[in-house]
Amino acid sequence: MRERLLIPREDILRRIEELGDKISRDYMDKEPVLVCILKGAAYFTVDLTRHLKIPFILDFMSMSKYSGSDSGVVRITKDLDIDIYERDTILIEDIVDTGLTLGYLLRNLRTRGPISIKVCTLLDCPVRRIVDIPVDYKGFEIPDVYVVGYGLDYRERYRNLLDIMVLEE
Ligand code: IMP
Ligand code: MG
Repeated sequence: MRERLLIPREDILRRIEELGDKISRDYMDKEPVLVCILKGAAYFTVDLTRHLKIPFILDFMSMSKYSGSDSGVVRITKDLDIDIYERDTILIEDIVDTGLTLGYLLRNLRTRGPISIKVCTLLDCPVRRIVDIPVDYKGFEIPDVYVVGYGLDYRERYRNLLDIMVLEE
């Protein structure tokens, strides 16, 4: 396996600052629940919150895909601690790829009666999309490549890389 630089750390941090400013403006006078989808989005979520100028509640959720299934059947392995009923909610993802995971999660969370649910993802890979997902905030669009670093893993490795790299055979 070789790694090739795709998005350098300076670009990532600058873009996250812009996203933080935009979310702060959009949620002025609100107190959204930020739902970090573990584990990949943890790094992005922490850095994003450093640029928020609004109050917020941070919570975490963890999902696992049933192995070998492309059906979009996802199991919640750690649910939210907070009730999002009548709350503004922002889902924070590392990457939206097929959209199956977020599609399931959006359907699930909408049944809980939130005021709103928006999606914020660091990376968006639209060419691999199977399920149409409304992406409200996105860091970067990427082509059809497998990426690691800045939270994203390959078999739990590479999360701690500061840059986003393409993993190639
Ligand atoms: P989706 O359900 O296909 O949209 O996949 C979403 C999840 O798969 C992401 O939250 C990531 O955890 C993982 N994933 C998808 N593509 C990549 C990638 O290129 N690198 C690392 N993880 C990925
Ligand atoms: Mg993920």
